[in-house]
Amino acid sequence: MFTNILLAVDGSEHAIRAAHIAAELARCHKASLRLVAAYDPVPPYLGEPNFQIILDAQLKEADKYLARTLEILGEIPGEVNSEVLQGPPAEAILDVAKTRACDLIVMGSRGLGQFTGLLLGSQSQKVVQHADCPVLIVK
Ligand SMILES: Nc1ncnc2c1ncn2[C@@H]1O[C@H](COP(=O)(O)OP(=O)(O)OP(=O)(O)O)[C@@H](O)[C@H]1O
Ligand SMILES: [Mg+2]
Repeated sequence: MFTNILLAVDGSEHAIRAAHIAAELARCHKASLRLVAAYDPVPPYLGEPNFQIILDAQLKEADKYLARTLEILGEIPGEVNSEVLQGPPAEAILDVAKTRACDLIVMGSRGLGQFTGLLLGSQSQKVVQHADCPVLIVK
């Protein structure tokens, strides 16, 4: 049923739980898995060398939690790809889902945000609201 699953990762516990479920679904459906991590844009007015230092730190952080996620996925029968994008996470997720023709988005209900009382974070809310394909939100 699903052939191309998008997994949104931000290094949070919820996203790790989402990764376990996405991996299981990819195995059941013999689907490929596309990991997406978005990082905040670095303001150009910071100037050099600050701009590059902060950009490198953001990319390193994204690479670190992508690598951690890849480790816990286990064997996936289809292709596994990762994309690191700059910009608001929900927009990056929706953009990749559309351009790469993903047929399922898997993400955590919450992420690294501090307002833990809310059921859904702002990014999962936006994705559920605007996605053209099914969205699986992992609590
Ligand atoms: N930068 C990101 N890149 C990729 N996926 C993300 C990113 N941020 C969040 N997500 C995905 O969205 C899910 C929900 O996170 P969200 O950001 O909506 O909640 P939050 O961090 O608790 O709240 P908020 O960001 O609104 O303060 C995460 O579990 C993850 O799957
Ligand atoms: Mg967040």
